[in-house]
Amino acid sequence: MDDQQFRKFGHEFIDWVADYFNNIESYPVLARVQPGEIKGALPSAPPESGESMEKIFADFKKTILPGMTHWQHPGWFAYFPANNSPASVLAEVLTAGLAAQCMIWQTSPAAAELEETVMGWLRDMIGLPASWSGVIQDTASTATLCSLLTAREVRTDFASNRSGVREPLTVYASTEAHSSVEKGIKIAGFGSENLRTIPVDETFAMIPDRLEEAIREDERRGRRPCAVVVTVGTTSSGAVDPLRPIGEICRRRGLWLHVDAAYAGTAAVLPEMRWLLDGAHLADSVVFNPHKWMLTNFDCSAYFVRDPGALIRTFEIHPEYLKTGKDAVVKNYRDWGIQLGRRFRALKLWFVIRSYGVEGIRSMVREHLRLARLFASRLEARPDFEILAPVILSLVCFRWNDGRKSGEELNALNKTLLERVNASGKVFLTHTSLNGRFVIRLVVGQRTTTERHVRQAWEIIAAEAGRLEA
Ligand SMILES: Cc1ncc(COP(=O)(O)O)c(C=O)c1O
Repeated sequence: MDDQQFRKFGHEFIDWVADYFNNIESYPVLARVQPGEIKGALPSAPPESGESMEKIFADFKKTILPGMTHWQHPGWFAYFPANNSPASVLAEVLTAGLAAQCMIWQTSPAAAELEETVMGWLRDMIGLPASWSGVIQDTASTATLCSLLTAREVRTDFASNRSGVREPLTVYASTEAHSSVEKGIKIAGFGSENLRTIPVDETFAMIPDRLEEAIREDERRGRRPCAVVVTVGTTSSGAVDPLRPIGEICRRRGLWLHVDAAYAGTAAVLPEMRWLLDGAHLADSVVFNPHKWMLTNFDCSAYFVRDPGALIRTFEIHPEYLKTGKDAVVKNYRDWGIQLGRRFRALKLWFVIRSYGVEGIRSMVREHLRLARLFASRLEARPDFEILAPVILSLVCFRWNDGRKSGEELNALNKTLLERVNASGKVFLTHTSLNGRFVIRLVVGQRTTTERHVRQAWEIIAAEAGRLEA
């Protein structure tokens, strides 16, 4: 591709993305293809000679686009969001053009120093202690793994890195913790048998007394309690584990404390939601995902630590070919996580925060919380719907229940309701299970979602529920 072609298609692609943002509602939110359909439309071998960009772009529109699920659709109410913004897209274009591999300071000083700066901004935006340091990870799963590995090293005085894990170290998280916690425990060599799942209360939040009991029981049986993972905003229901009392237990008993606020952390930009992270000063690490709810293209996970020295000591490795004369005075982020190579992710965060301002981010989050409460009020007004978890954030857990069915029959009917609602193509919601009940989740988190979309979601749900009853 020559320079002229690159410019031509560069302009065309940005126009295409701008049109996509404007017309996104014309697409069904959830892809309507069958398994194998896209693969069947693709050649099984690569082209021997290069093809024109016209042809490649035409095939993108014809073959790939129908197989895409549209995460940026304003009718996206599924899982948690992964929202983006024009500022973030533009930054990603520059990042791709620079194509820098930002493993150490020398391989792009601006990337290292911008990362340090924007992570300082983010830390202050969500009210973490000013003495903490941040680093961008790809995902919250990776950040949690980094935290568990650091906990393991700190607990064993860095002997596990040398000789492997020699004794059972136990880790504690609530029964509602995200699956990435168990995955991290397996990968980090704790063994999933050494994960203790702590019961939750009626709001699905961890019960601190039960945590302390479990720790005591392990100590009594000669195990070594190592770390606790608190969830602020659980995946199923948005529950908030009580961070401060759990932090006090961890301090008292000398346990590592990691806070998984992957989705909910963004809400702490609001002064009225700061309570979410009350007690974070007692923790050792906190993760939240700007790639979920802070307008920043996936991937971008913000990982904050009290003691970067412990993190670096866990991960650092000094091959001769990576040594530079500046190592003593700069931050080499390769030592702050698992992989060596690093994308320039700080650029999109910088663009997003500058383009919206902290106030712009706050008003988006505030509006999403308002819309979730609006949706909840529609449910409350109906005797045939019930809300199954407290609405703390922008997630509403509910089900249809006319009081005449129970158990598996009710679960099956709600599954049917969800399938029919999603078949509309206008909205996409997902489900979970709470206390054995099939629960429909509606999460407001898309940049373009407005009251009209939430009202439309409710109308579709109410209409489909009417057909269930008929
Ligand atoms: C509470 C919580 N923790 C962790 C994760 C994993 O996030 P990631 O995809 O960034 O690894 C999720 C994903 O939704 C989550 O809800």
